[in-house]
Amino acid sequence: MIKQYDALIVGGGVIGCSIAYQMSKRGKKVHLIEKDRLAGKASQAAAGMLGVQTELKGNGPLYHLAKESRDMYPSLARDLKEISGMDIEYVENGMIKLARTEEEAQELVETASIASRGEQIRWLSPNTLFSYEPHLSKDVAGGLYIPKDGNVSAPKLTQALGSASKMQGAEISEYTDVYDFMKERNKITGVRTSKGDFYADETIVAGGAWSRFLLDRLEMKFKSFPVKGVCFSVKVPGKTVERTIFTEGCYIVPKAGGRLLIGATEHPHTFDETITIGGLMSLMHLATSILPELVDAKWEKAWAGIRPQTEQGVPFMGRSEEWKGLSIATGHYRNGILLAPITGVLMADLIEGKESHPLLSYVRR
Ligand code: FAD
Ligand code: GLY
Repeated sequence: MIKQYDALIVGGGVIGCSIAYQMSKRGKKVHLIEKDRLAGKASQAAAGMLGVQTELKGNGPLYHLAKESRDMYPSLARDLKEISGMDIEYVENGMIKLARTEEEAQELVETASIASRGEQIRWLSPNTLFSYEPHLSKDVAGGLYIPKDGNVSAPKLTQALGSASKMQGAEISEYTDVYDFMKERNKITGVRTSKGDFYADETIVAGGAWSRFLLDRLEMKFKSFPVKGVCFSVKVPGKTVERTIFTEGCYIVPKAGGRLLIGATEHPHTFDETITIGGLMSLMHLATSILPELVDAKWEKAWAGIRPQTEQGVPFMGRSEEWKGLSIATGHYRNGILLAPITGVLMADLIEGKESHPLLSYVRR
């Protein structure tokens, strides 16, 4: 029996799940296919920061998309709870971007005036900073306080998007490898998988850092590369920091249940998810220099993930010009959790033939 869908989505990370959620919400017959388990790759590893002001430089189109996406979180968290019963642990706990030297402080004060458009960002002098976060090292030169940049549990978000998609009628196949496309002249008509062939009007590749291997089957020169990141988590008995502390090379994210998540390294051009002592040591060194009490924290675990990056440094979300019925959504690099809600909406709009978002051309190229 031929299995025909409105859309096939390849990849069960946060991007594929967000697209499945938006499309199934609009009544589309969607089938999401994941070769491992949902949220098994980068979306499992992510710290879940919604860092519009910390992660993105300048205030170009990507900044505005990210801001729009972050601002979708309060209602998305409510909707996902209602539909799937799952709590994505969304908190608007704010972030502090630390300056460790006077030079860094000067730079941050300058960027604050550019990046703060429409945002309430405040520069905290060292004294004010310590009144906000008394456990921070006294060796810092102040920080930029961004009240609206919160965080979520990235794995729970991805699971909840998948689960809500199912409740809305989507089918999800885990442990199913998509290894090729089916074609009729210049149109993609479906995919070949380890569990059989599936047909659809639209196929969306959301395979994270592995997308290019699948696109190679179509001889598309999709230029992307992996960037490995290592994180670890600890448990602290009392209060340490309330807000996310972000600095060059290291961040400390307070999570539910007294956990602190500390990340992350950057190793480009590798798919090897091994955790090395060297990577952990550099993170621990930076983290304890910011928050000295961490030396007494109880070790929990360490993990690695592979971020999908494009050569242009901007995510790609759009339809293929060479192949009808094929779309791609990947390359979200350090910001896939932040950008997932808007990506779901933009991709669902595109598939419906609406190209109304003014910033869409920026991520299509
Ligand atoms: P993935 O989550 O990798 O999902 C892709 C999926 O596609 C995988 O499950 C894979 O198995 C599947 N797949 C691939 N090929 C096939 C195939 N042929 N057939 C079937 N399935 C296939 N972002 C933030 O916004 N905030 C953060 O704080 C943050 N912290 C991070 C910390 C670390 C350490 C890392 C590594 C990343 C972090 N990110 C963060 C980035 C974020 O995790 C990624 O941008 C995002 O998860 C990418 O989602 P994705 O769905 O594109 O990829
Ligand atoms: N956005 C945090 C990271 O990618 O490490």
